Amino acid sequence: MTIIPMNGYVPKYIPVEKREVRDSGSYAQIKIDAFTAYCAAAQHVFKTNREKGIAGCLVYFEPFSGPGMNEIRETKKRVKGTALLALEKLTYFDVFVFNELKLKVLNALYSELVDLGLDSDSSRRIYLSKQDANQTVSDLRTILPKKQVGVAFPVMGVAVVDPPGMNFKWSAVMELSHHRLDFVGMLSTSHDLTRNLDHVDGHAHLVDWLGENPTGTPTQVLARYEEKLRTVAKYEHVHGPTSSPLPGQQDIGVPRAYHLFLATKCKTEVASRIWRGVCRSVSKGTRGNALFDEGDFD
Ligand SMILES: C[S@@+](CC[C@H](N)C(=O)[O-])C[C@H]1O[C@@H](n2cnc3c(N)ncnc32)[C@H](O)[C@@H]1O
Repeated sequence: MTIIPMNGYVPKYIPVEKREVRDSGSYAQIKIDAFTAYCAAAQHVFKTNREKGIAGCLVYFEPFSGPGMNEIRETKKRVKGTALLALEKLTYFDVFVFNELKLKVLNALYSELVDLGLDSDSSRRIYLSKQDANQTVSDLRTILPKKQVGVAFPVMGVAVVDPPGMNFKWSAVMELSHHRLDFVGMLSTSHDLTRNLDHVDGHAHLVDWLGENPTGTPTQVLARYEEKLRTVAKYEHVHGPTSSPLPGQQDIGVPRAYHLFLATKCKTEVASRIWRGVCRSVSKGTRGNALFDEGDFD
């Protein structure tokens, strides 16, 4: 058994017809395409890191995991979400940590994993946790190896953070930044930031999100978030949410309703090349078939 329930979660298998599916807007397709393109590069880069003795355990962490499947509202098409895509694409990764607040949503993800036969896949460990995403970041310290002889970093990999609004707190970003995980962030700003910035009751959680009082326009607040990822959380390279918006994000109704960004601890330019490849593939509509150039990962 490689599915390891955490934080008191008792998994329950739900038949497919009764299973939760995420009802998503068309922006979800952009997110999924971008993430698919990102996975193609991440798989290659992290595998190489392990082969060169730089990385020990390869880890994928998703604190707002969702049920696994999305239904795109406009087309009624069912597509795999980030959690299932990560399991499918990041085949060299050793440990996956999924967290979700809602029991029926986590049970849906668990059921997808069982249907895929991943409960008897002994090559990787899949942790399932049910609690607030902000708390689950600190669990990483207890699950992940602290040392591994002969490698530079005992843990490397990816954290995908896809909250429904601005509810991943700055304190959790700081905790996450202590791990050598690429931070792929997804922000649905129109549903929260734009609406609540000037709203007395709605404003309080934006203070927790930014780690300070947000001032100015939504774009200025996002620019401040990006600056803090660099200067306070000390990510070496930060692409977006404002400096490098993915093409297509403006084409979905509300201006810049959705922002994707990548923040990495990696000192080399490789992450920047990955992000450029992701942007190219989304703008060319290749549905996640990544467009990378020869030498992108050298
Ligand atoms: C945008 S969805 C994630 C979708 C997923 N990335 C995908 O591609 O399928 C966000 C999920 O976070 C869950 N959620 C909301 N607040 C949460 C919290 N505080 N902690 C953990 N999960 C939460 C929601 O129930 C929802 O399933």
